[in-house]
Amino acid sequence: MKKICMFGLGFVGLPLALSFAMRGCQVTGVDIDEQLIDDLNKGITHHLEFYEGKSIQEILQEQMAQGRFRAINDGPAAMRDSDHIIVTIGIPVDGHKHDISPLLEVCRTVGAGLKKGDLVLIRSTVIPGTTRDLVLPLLEKQSGLRAGQDFYLAYSSERIAEGRAFHEFEHMPAALAGIDEPSTEKALELMSIVTRATITQASSMEVVETSKVIENISRDVDIAMVNEFARFCKAMGIDIFEVVRVANTHQRVQLLNPGPGVGGYCLPNALFYLLPKAEELGVDLNLLTTARQVNEAMPRFVADLVLRNLQVPPSQSRIAVLGLAMKDYSNDDRMSPALAVIECLQKSGCTVKAFDPAVPSRYDFKVNSLKEALAGAHGLVLLSLQNGIELMNLDLFRELMTPDLPFIVDTKNFYDPALIKEKGFRLERL
Ligand SMILES: NC(=O)c1ccc[n+]([C@@H]2O[C@H](COP(=O)([O-])OP(=O)(O)OC[C@H]3O[C@@H](n4cnc5c(N)ncnc54)[C@H](O)[C@@H]3O)[C@@H](O)[C@H]2O)c1
Repeated sequence: MKKICMFGLGFVGLPLALSFAMRGCQVTGVDIDEQLIDDLNKGITHHLEFYEGKSIQEILQEQMAQGRFRAINDGPAAMRDSDHIIVTIGIPVDGHKHDISPLLEVCRTVGAGLKKGDLVLIRSTVIPGTTRDLVLPLLEKQSGLRAGQDFYLAYSSERIAEGRAFHEFEHMPAALAGIDEPSTEKALELMSIVTRATITQASSMEVVETSKVIENISRDVDIAMVNEFARFCKAMGIDIFEVVRVANTHQRVQLLNPGPGVGGYCLPNALFYLLPKAEELGVDLNLLTTARQVNEAMPRFVADLVLRNLQVPPSQSRIAVLGLAMKDYSNDDRMSPALAVIECLQKSGCTVKAFDPAVPSRYDFKVNSLKEALAGAHGLVLLSLQNGIELMNLDLFRELMTPDLPFIVDTKNFYDPALIKEKGFRLERL
């Protein structure tokens, strides 16, 4: 039974901690967010994760009741009771600039509590080179111990998608490298408790770190490509979703669907982890940078679709926004395109009422029911799908929205155009 300390109890850390606990490990989770610790100890989490028919809330309560998981904010205390330390603290990006200080702060705590024989496994997505160049010296300095001699150090990227975390910790192939062979072996042994899929051992931590960032950027670029096609098709007066369907009948083409932008912690941030290293190395990343700009421009494009359907001046308009999460069926609204669409609409003078029952964040424009969002709305924009929003209750939409031909901007290709027309709406798709 391994004794594990999980630093960071967010979208990755909490389900990962519980995955180890469910398999018999003794896990102490550490987070600086006191409200989060309080909630977790009451068995509360807003995450939408499931495993074998149980919700993450049920799993959390079960594992706490069985004494295999506890959440605290005291890092040094957690370190005393553990010899396997996993770090899942992210590197936030704001205004295209990354901030590595939270990760380094945690490494200081970990270093101060490090004991001989401990393993430190970094699972955050990082700027290539971070584990060797920044984490390792910090751990050595704080602990007075030597990596490879006194403690083990390894990096393994985290690849889960929110909403599928438990399943993907188990079944998604993973990649791993340590600072030396014993570190790799030790980390492999730990990860194998949860991961049943192949764990590729790479030749260096830099390979795994770079691969992770590139995996995220490649998805960002794929989405940017189809978002650009969407803008072209709109101008052509043809339906991008039909074009994608037709193009994908080619056996070597696999286009994704377009959307209102790309949000969440992972894809939009990745370029800003690669750029600093590329600048240091004197490498241009023009294609990748352009792709990011294309995705960042999508909320403006969606807002313009709304504005061009308005039959009243924006300052007199009311717009209902449905779905605030960064992707369908998620509670995560970090960097959500919906927030950017709303900002554009508000800047143009529109009054926005947004509804998303799964997103816990509070905003002035957020309302508590579908009815409040729809009441008096001239138009509606669907930005992400969500359980708990009655999207097919078109009679309710018609009853509550303004009577003179209200419109729906459907960024998800959710509605059947014939039905929408029959119910008396104008429909605008991406
Ligand atoms: N969210 C995803 O789907 C996903 C998928 C793959 C990889 N990742 C990567 O995993 C890492 C974590 O992502 P996340 O979405 O779980 O982030 P998150 O923001 O949900 O969780 C991070 C947690 O760390 C805590 N924290 C910050 N500083 C701390 C400190 N000094 N001590 C203790 N706790 C501290 C925060 O309070 C927060 O709860 C990131 O590097 C991210 O890029 C995320």
